Amino acid sequence: MDKNILEETAKKMMAQPKGILAMDESSPTIAKRLASINTENNEINRRRYRELIVTAPNLSNYISGAILFEETFDQKMSDGTLFRDYLNTIGILPGIKVDKGAKDFSNHPNEKITEGLDGLRERLSGYYAHGAKFCKWRAVITIDQDIPSEACIESNMNALARYASLCQENNLVPIVEPEVLINGSHTIEQCDIVTRKSIKSLFKNLDMLNVYLPGTVLKPSMVISGQDNSSRADSSTVANMTVDCLSECVPETTSGIAFLSGGQSDTEAEEHLNLMNKKNNLPWRVTFSYARAIQAAALSAWQGDDTNLDNAQKILIERASRCSKASVGEL
Ligand code: 13P
Repeated sequence: MDKNILEETAKKMMAQPKGILAMDESSPTIAKRLASINTENNEINRRRYRELIVTAPNLSNYISGAILFEETFDQKMSDGTLFRDYLNTIGILPGIKVDKGAKDFSNHPNEKITEGLDGLRERLSGYYAHGAKFCKWRAVITIDQDIPSEACIESNMNALARYASLCQENNLVPIVEPEVLINGSHTIEQCDIVTRKSIKSLFKNLDMLNVYLPGTVLKPSMVISGQDNSSRADSSTVANMTVDCLSECVPETTSGIAFLSGGQSDTEAEEHLNLMNKKNNLPWRVTFSYARAIQAAALSAWQGDDTNLDNAQKILIERASRCSKASVGEL
């Protein structure tokens, strides 16, 4: 592990006024996205869609790094350039999602455990050799009657820490993503309790495995009411409770925080981030690592038809630009 390399990469990822673009939808997820615009899910269409994203004019004004799915990391664009090489030439760090997905957790109905540790060391050294600068691993925590269990939180956070430690051994910055799902009718207070437990457990496990925090990026969900809750907390409550939770649970030496959007609307995702950044004296950089809140409107404008390409790119850039402004509290 070279701490200077890790710190330098993490600083670039957290550069103001930028954020990280998540464009690493797994095979089942990209299938859903393309189905939503009646476009066949095949390698060519996945390439066309992702090429639309990375060639949007001036994307690097707003985006410091892009998380790719393994297919895209090794894929060529229409002119034969590898996506990862193209991103480098436009000043966007290429990263890669390395987990193998959230699977049913044995003996724990309705809970998930993220897999992918077996053989990870070898995969990571290959990704680094091919130009990846950072990685992502997502753990999923569900709130419902009697869940999450201690076992689900501890097992997922330990896996995240093992992944992070292997990344750093290979000079790759780990994005650690403990996502508390927005699905359900839980209150914001329930979300706060579960998010605190999860993030505290995560940093306990990171510490136990000697993970270097200045070379680590946290990608959390916000503290927010469940999407089916009939009286959802307002924006300033979300921003305040999220900052309070993170201030208590995230060590100041952590390189930075980049939120997922997690099913929030575009407006919610940008407004919450903006409000947090309007507060003074946050000890770490707080930015975005959104997928849906940057891509959804552009995907729907594209409809799989390249006569809509310019318009879709314009919409994508507008979304990225608004999130960028929110990341410095200037929306
Ligand atoms: P969303 O912003 O759509 O939640 O996606 C972020 C992400 O990378 C989930 O792993």
